[in-house]
Amino acid sequence: MATMILHSSLLSLTSAAKITSLSIAVVRSDSSPSRPSSPVAVPYQSLTPSLLCSCGRRHLIQACATALLPISPSHATPLLSDSTAMLNRVHPPRPDWYEELYAAVLDKGMEAYEAEIAGYKSQLFSNLRGKAKKVLEIGIGTGPNLKYYANGTDIEVFGIDPNMKMEKYAKAAAVASGLPPTNFKFIHAVGEALPLSDAAVDAVVGTLVLCSVKDVDTALKEVKRVLKPGGLYLFVEHVAARDGTVLRFLQNVLDPLQQTVSDGCHLTRETGKHIFEAGFSGVNISSTSLRNAFVASPHVYGIACK
Ligand SMILES: C[S@@+](CC[C@H](N)C(=O)[O-])C[C@H]1O[C@@H](n2cnc3c(N)ncnc32)[C@H](O)[C@@H]1O
Repeated sequence: MATMILHSSLLSLTSAAKITSLSIAVVRSDSSPSRPSSPVAVPYQSLTPSLLCSCGRRHLIQACATALLPISPSHATPLLSDSTAMLNRVHPPRPDWYEELYAAVLDKGMEAYEAEIAGYKSQLFSNLRGKAKKVLEIGIGTGPNLKYYANGTDIEVFGIDPNMKMEKYAKAAAVASGLPPTNFKFIHAVGEALPLSDAAVDAVVGTLVLCSVKDVDTALKEVKRVLKPGGLYLFVEHVAARDGTVLRFLQNVLDPLQQTVSDGCHLTRETGKHIFEAGFSGVNISSTSLRNAFVASPHVYGIACK
């Protein structure tokens, strides 16, 4: 995702929130973010603006950002079979200070965003109640979702993340959600090679993570592999704004910098399209625009069934 490192610094300078509210035109959007609609299927092309950028400024920013900061903008990588090899391949260790800072900013910097998305998440995660005993969360980060689904003693949660500095926050969030410590396991891994056997879990949760994985399709293939037949994949993801909008222009310009300061997060991914095309037996997807996500305001959220 869009951690708020970039959002709360750069974007406040550009008053992107105002621009966003003028330029977002998602097809099935909720006019009131506090009252989420039921996830509904939408025609896919409505969520698929072009990724191409004709703007030279993008390349200038990319060059500057890459020279100054430790994370370079990424390109998809081929699949490796072993999960540790894949971890090292797609998410090689960052400097300690970078991982610590990123985790701390995520922990403290997402409050306004989480408050705005709370209604959507409550509704979405209610679909797991009584149905999911084993849940995997990919890119769990500091664990902001655990309180929505991990409040039972009979639920077992695996949280995977390549950033080990997230572990202490995620564990604290698990305890705060009422989950017995033995029922939460933090696993150092990436979504592209999940260290779980086939059909291992009842549900997979992923929020603001497909923007950050290196290979979206491989991660979705893994999600499907570890889900039991009939298992649910719950997602909330920020996505590219509609092509031709001012917001999309801003996303194109800021994308390389965003990848660099926010640990590989892309602003211009058409994640809804990837989820639709991943081969789930059913996908319910809605879109909305979240004010507190600034330049990452266009979101998709919903449920896919294996
Ligand atoms: C913006 S954060 C979102 C964290 C959390 N899901 C949330 O909603 O706040 C993105 C997370 O994805 C993790 N991540 C980055 N690359 C990943 C990958 N290839 N597989 C799984 N997680 C990854 C990051 O370490 C980070 O914790």
